[in-house]
Amino acid sequence: MKINNICCIGAGYVGGPTMSVIADRCPHIQVNVVDINQERINSWNDSNLMNLPIYEPGLDQIVGRCRGKNLHFSTDLERHISQADMIFISVNTPTKTKGIGAGKASDLKWVEASARKVASFARGHTIVVEKSTLPVRTAEVIQQILQVEERSGKKQEQGPTFDVLSNPEFLSEGSAVKDLEEPDRVLIGGDNDEAIEALSRIYKKWVPEENILHTNIWSSELAKLTANAFLAQRISSINSIAALCEATGGDVREVARAIGSDSRIGARFLDSGPGFGGSCFKKDILNLVYLSRFFGLSEVADFWGGVVTLNQWHQHRVSTLIVKKLFGTLASKKIAVLGFAFKANTNDTRESAAIQICKDLIDEGAILFIHDPKASPNQIEIDLGIKPLDKCIDGSNSKETSKDGTWCFASKIIDAADQADAILVLTEWEEYTQINWLEIANRMRKPAWVFDSRSILKYEEVIHAGLNFWRIGMG
Ligand code: UDX
Ligand code: UDX
Repeated sequence: MKINNICCIGAGYVGGPTMSVIADRCPHIQVNVVDINQERINSWNDSNLMNLPIYEPGLDQIVGRCRGKNLHFSTDLERHISQADMIFISVNTPTKTKGIGAGKASDLKWVEASARKVASFARGHTIVVEKSTLPVRTAEVIQQILQVEERSGKKQEQGPTFDVLSNPEFLSEGSAVKDLEEPDRVLIGGDNDEAIEALSRIYKKWVPEENILHTNIWSSELAKLTANAFLAQRISSINSIAALCEATGGDVREVARAIGSDSRIGARFLDSGPGFGGSCFKKDILNLVYLSRFFGLSEVADFWGGVVTLNQWHQHRVSTLIVKKLFGTLASKKIAVLGFAFKANTNDTRESAAIQICKDLIDEGAILFIHDPKASPNQIEIDLGIKPLDKCIDGSNSKETSKDGTWCFASKIIDAADQADAILVLTEWEEYTQINWLEIANRMRKPAWVFDSRSILKYEEVIHAGLNFWRIGMG
């Protein structure tokens, strides 16, 4: 099973960076990334590397090195599936919005559609690799779809024949390239040793052999859901303690440092924030909840469901306390929102805590001036479902705006802060740690507040500038 040609279906946050790194590390393999979205493919092919559809530090250099040599982006699924020895399925698997399992189960329609395309166009022996996060035993579904073609034997003399592997992706957005280049582990689930070895050989080009784990296919599928559930659980745990710190006079950062130095707990992933976001955590936990209920394990389902419930409560908690500090009303008050992406170093806003918090503040009548170095005004408009004010789309002054409960995009922090009653930091972008608070304070309407939901600001500087200050988890 020598792999010379790879096809990846889905040129998203997972497929794009993963295939770029494989192409970079395996110059002998031709890698074709295909997608049904022509616009996305055009962006991947844009001669200006600043216009790639995904912002990830270091990704533009890799794409620049490999594109047109052994890395290609295209919408020609049929051709690239038929040429491939190995096909990665990396399409999105959103939570179902209707029907059985609505709001919890993963919608597998794109995975099924991809498997059917593979079944129709693949030739010879093909290894199909699940990259998307999937419910346990999805590989079986894929296998069944592929087997129909195997049995019919098509018009070819032999085959097609298939092996299905699970190879979940643990990359984290914003550090995708580093996570791919130096993974803690690579997980490969499957039952055919030859196919597992073929995929392992690719990773062995840059990953130490002892970091490549082999399991059965269902353990691999479940490990992905479990990893995300455990990580999200840590965030809900520390955020719950932040609320308790605020009530009792503790400081969550001190508590986190104290517990994190216990090597059994570990220091990472203990930063209290505005609530976890991103495309995976909520979706994967809801999936786990759905599976647990399906198998009659209601206590297990309730346990994990609590992680999501706490996260939602925590987001509302942040918006509620802002209303309280601003004298119980936000009507016609201007609030500068710094950061809309679900975390720093990404333009991704999926499930960002900023969405719920901004909606709450708008509902209370606030006029939000939203700044983010990477998230686009267009995307923010889609997420909020509210048209921005035309007048200040360029970030100009709010004095002309008299409307309640609205927002606009500010391209400069200073414009967002001009005449603002409060500044709310929602994403931990590096540039927010460099703010000159004396300059900002001069432009704000007094009494003015700074709300730091990410614990990134130097609070002495903010206080020194004459501003009121609140930080998450600081009693
Ligand atoms: C990934 C994983 O695949 C998902 O399971 C995980 O939980 C989150 O991360 P991601 O790469 O973030 O998904 O998704 P997205 O950026 O939406 O990319 C998916 C791409 O697949 C899109 O560009 C979409 O156009 C494409 N697609 C979808 C196809 O090419 N064919 C389809 O049939 C469906
Ligand atoms: C996550 C997993 O980390 C990754 O392994 C998996 O493949 C996909 O899902 P990602 O969603 O990119 O990655 O982001 P991550 O860094 O895990 O952060 C998720 C959310 O938790 C963000 O909103 C982040 O701000 C928040 N978070 C993270 C905290 O609030 N505090 C922390 O200490 C860490």
